[in-house]
Amino acid sequence: MATKNTIILAAGKGTRMKSKLYKVLHRVCGRTMVDHVLTQVEQVKMDNIVTVVGHGAEAVEQELGDRTKYAVQEEQLGTGHAVMQAEDILGDLDGITMVVSGDTPLFTAQTFDNLFEYHKNKKAAVTILTSKTDEPTGYGRIVRNNLGIVERIVEQKDATSEEQAITEINTGVYAFDNRALFNALHSVNNDNAQGEYYLPDAIEILKKQGKTIAAFQMDNFYESMGVNDRVALSKATKIMQQRINESHMRNGVTIIDPENTYIDVDIKIGSDTVIEPGVQLKNQTVIGDDCYIGAHSEIRNSTIHNGVTVTSSLIEDSEMLDGSDIGPNSHLRPDSHIGQGVHLGNFVEVKKSTIEDNTKVGHLTYVGNAKLGKNINIGCGVVFVNYDGANKHETVVGDDSFIGSNSNLIAPLKVADHSFIAAGSTINKDVARYDMAIARERQTNKPGYYKKLPYQKD
Ligand code: UD1
Ligand code: CA
Repeated sequence: MATKNTIILAAGKGTRMKSKLYKVLHRVCGRTMVDHVLTQVEQVKMDNIVTVVGHGAEAVEQELGDRTKYAVQEEQLGTGHAVMQAEDILGDLDGITMVVSGDTPLFTAQTFDNLFEYHKNKKAAVTILTSKTDEPTGYGRIVRNNLGIVERIVEQKDATSEEQAITEINTGVYAFDNRALFNALHSVNNDNAQGEYYLPDAIEILKKQGKTIAAFQMDNFYESMGVNDRVALSKATKIMQQRINESHMRNGVTIIDPENTYIDVDIKIGSDTVIEPGVQLKNQTVIGDDCYIGAHSEIRNSTIHNGVTVTSSLIEDSEMLDGSDIGPNSHLRPDSHIGQGVHLGNFVEVKKSTIEDNTKVGHLTYVGNAKLGKNINIGCGVVFVNYDGANKHETVVGDDSFIGSNSNLIAPLKVADHSFIAAGSTINKDVARYDMAIARERQTNKPGYYKKLPYQKD
């Protein structure tokens, strides 16, 4: 049976990244590079996917889980040597094996599909996926003879200045006849500038064996971009960002300034939502229809339902229901559940709390470890005093209550529904239904005192 396989090369350390993190685990728009590659490969139905791991093997395996098989490359002796490590798993199969690097995050499933099609039609032993660029430095160059037929690939460090002028590059993606691939790799040596076993050398070997070498040139160089350093990482991020933003816009989202809007790859956004400049949407965030996400808001891993307005605020691991609003300059810390029509104004911080429908928290307030019912009015500058220096305690406030400005609610505390707390109170005893609690010093007025002041004015 002719199988369809892919080998993903991900064993390198990525020295040029100058990072503690292994190269393929660097993220582009929220997803690791190697996961981007695997995600696209998965869309082209494969019989086997083998990821070659070495540096950071454990971390890479943890990242990709059982979506792929693994081959371990103990020592990083080059891309040819890396592919050899998959021989135990794939060596005996008939069919086609695609090889792709874990550091080329922009490839699409469509391109992989096109390569397979082209390769089958050409009946070649190998088809190299190539592209053209005015900035080929760092890539392997495609050397063609004067008939335009591919002869070999020469690496940057081994290329003569004439070869360095070639603008057609090796994208690092190839479709091989599986048996021919492993057969040729046995003859690859490391006699080159880097002392490595180069996978591209397999091509020249196949050529010498009289086999057909094909090259499929893609028209979009950017899709083939390899990320070896942080400069390329930022370029790849820009391109991915543009792709993501365009797909949201095509789905009915208004993005005012897509150049400056940062949306991770897994985010869902409903139609007629407007996103202002500088917004960052991260992790598994979901945003509904008709929302307005104001400039410089950041939303991480949160669910925002329909018709919600977020003005210059930070939201983490939280949820906001229909028609609620927040900001400017407010902060939902993890595990905050905001009900329908709730108003959170400016400089409000909420943490691990539930606020039910139509409650208003207008200004300068901290709500921590609290359960707030419906239709409550929280005045300005209220502090839910949740921490005694050792433990966090809970405050519960019932429906339709009124908490006056500048009150401190010292937890653990229960304020019943339909109750009233006078402004400026420090409350540490439970308050019953229909009661008013007032806890502050009575005011004293001293008649004529002003006249005794040394700086008094008439
Ligand atoms: C490679 C190609 C080059 C091509 C470019 C496209 C070779 C020798 N060169 O160069 O022709 O233009 O990709 O992006 O193949 N890896 C291993 N084990 C190793 C060495 C590398 O698994 O021993 C992995 C790396 O983790 C990486 C991939 O192979 O994901 C490519 O290696 P890298 O060092 O980035 O190759 P380039 O210099 O970019
Ligand atoms: Ca590379």
